[in-house]
Amino acid sequence: CGIVGYVGDRQAADFLLEGLAKLEYRGYDSAGIAVYHDGKIKVQKKVGRLVNLKKVVEQDPNIGTIGIGHTRWATHGGPSDVNSHPHMSMDGKFAVVHNGIIENYMTLKEELLAKGYQFKSETDTEVVAHLCSDMYDGDFASTVRRVLKRLRGSYSLVFMSTYQPDTIICCKKDNPLIVGLGDGENYIASDIPAILNYTRRTYIMNDGEVAIVKKDSVWVTDLDGQPVSKKVFEVNWDAEAAEKGGFEHFMIKEIFEQPKAIRDTLSCRVADDGKSVKFDELNWSPEDVNSIGKIMITACGTAYHAGLLAKYFIEKLARIPVEVDIASEYRYRDPLTDSKTLCIIISQSGETIDTLAALKEAKRRGARSLAITNVVGSSISREADQVVYTWAGPEIAVASTKAYTTQLVALLLLALYMGRLNGQLSAEKETEILQDLQKVPEQCQYIFDHADDVKQLAEKFKNKEDVFFIGRSMDYGLAMEGALKLKEISYIHAEAYAGGELKHGTLALIVDGVPVIALATQRDVEEKMISNIKEVKARNAQVVGVVQDDDTEVAKTVDYIIKIPKSDNFVMPVMTVIPLQLLAYYAAVVRGNDVDKPRNLAKSVTVE
Ligand code: G6P
Repeated sequence: CGIVGYVGDRQAADFLLEGLAKLEYRGYDSAGIAVYHDGKIKVQKKVGRLVNLKKVVEQDPNIGTIGIGHTRWATHGGPSDVNSHPHMSMDGKFAVVHNGIIENYMTLKEELLAKGYQFKSETDTEVVAHLCSDMYDGDFASTVRRVLKRLRGSYSLVFMSTYQPDTIICCKKDNPLIVGLGDGENYIASDIPAILNYTRRTYIMNDGEVAIVKKDSVWVTDLDGQPVSKKVFEVNWDAEAAEKGGFEHFMIKEIFEQPKAIRDTLSCRVADDGKSVKFDELNWSPEDVNSIGKIMITACGTAYHAGLLAKYFIEKLARIPVEVDIASEYRYRDPLTDSKTLCIIISQSGETIDTLAALKEAKRRGARSLAITNVVGSSISREADQVVYTWAGPEIAVASTKAYTTQLVALLLLALYMGRLNGQLSAEKETEILQDLQKVPEQCQYIFDHADDVKQLAEKFKNKEDVFFIGRSMDYGLAMEGALKLKEISYIHAEAYAGGELKHGTLALIVDGVPVIALATQRDVEEKMISNIKEVKARNAQVVGVVQDDDTEVAKTVDYIIKIPKSDNFVMPVMTVIPLQLLAYYAAVVRGNDVDKPRNLAKSVTVE
């Protein structure tokens, strides 16, 4: 969900609606605002996209200079007008917006029902509004702090009250929240893009902090009301970068931004002579690496797929055993993690609750932790012992593209770094791979120049019901990402298989005309891949071969060919994924789907 708040002299609704538009990627099944005016809080909310709410506000303006807003991704209670936020207390004195889950809401609800409180919605959030009136002690801030102490779960919460109509109070636990500092006005948001057009000066809120926000002051305390001194965090993002800037969709814009994202992620980690990797933020000694017995990678979705490739990178280059786990599985399987384990957490947003919980579990078991994330100041970046940032810039499209390629780059650099430090990798090999990696931003242009070929394939396959992706070695991990991309935005069913595994069952599904995307960029297994391609060709599949540009062999056996500029085996995946992203993108466009906001999905999933 996305959250905003405003207090100042301007009309609050203007900022709230604009801010919510910037946060729609955090959830978009309903939206609402609450504005205070003349002794009353007026709430307007509407199921569906933000534009529905905008129409309501246009017809019936919500006048007032202090307000809060919310864009929702349903958890407790389906998408509907009443389940949308803000939620009000029965007496109309408090309004609340919430991102996260109140785990003990059933107990609280029963208690409130017994006292005669009536609930309008099925949400967990509404209990918070009623609790405020139930626990009101004559002081808004003190009431909020006492309410917070009764809540279990995760939240960012923003409150307003007719008792103190010049004040917004906000707080957080395991969900993001920032306060934007203006001149005679202040802002609240769950994420930076919402406030970029207004201010760059922010307080990044920590768990257990409560901010009391008025137009001329922001006062931060802990849960006991003790003052907390905050440092101003200056956002250095370009406002333009959070906008679509000329492209039809965020996703295609972000695909084309990959050369820059890769360059940014790479350049600060290459030593001055261009021959070796450096990580100033890690500054590890050989001993630091030698003390790692095992690496445990946990992540979700696309970030998990980056982890699958990292296993190849690290095991091959640094010879340290690596396990890769889906974050939500890791937590509950009593994992073998101890103080000799390095836990690598990968997350674009740094807010995915499953991933954050896995990180906490690994730390509880004594592991060292390293986060690879794209968002500075995110929950995961603050929880981990050390952080390597990917410098992809804000990623808005739900389907992850530039975050994934920069994750691959960061992970490959890390493997090179560890391999050198523990003596498993020669300086020559490190330089060779690093130099190939440095050529990638330029080489991407070749792939973009041939984007139309991919578009034509997408048009050809637009009515297919199933597509298969096959690959061996690193191309297998990549096949999984290619299949996920196609599924999530084009809604075409896709499956990824290790090239050698098809014949053990799935070959039964390869019939006349079924598209098979055969990734064959890994030279050491090319011959084996050709055999696998022949197996599917023999069943009349339509095969697209994805190969290094000097290939001659695969081209002889496939129906269509996509060429990727030649590079080292370890570097190939960073480029090979791009046509797979483009295939998914064009397939979604030609099928008329909402590319940036696919059905049922959200960019940042802060529920378990
Ligand atoms: C959501 C998104 C995916 C993303 C996953 C992990 O499910 O829809 O695209 O890969 O979360 O997100 P993270 O921010 O942790 O990388």
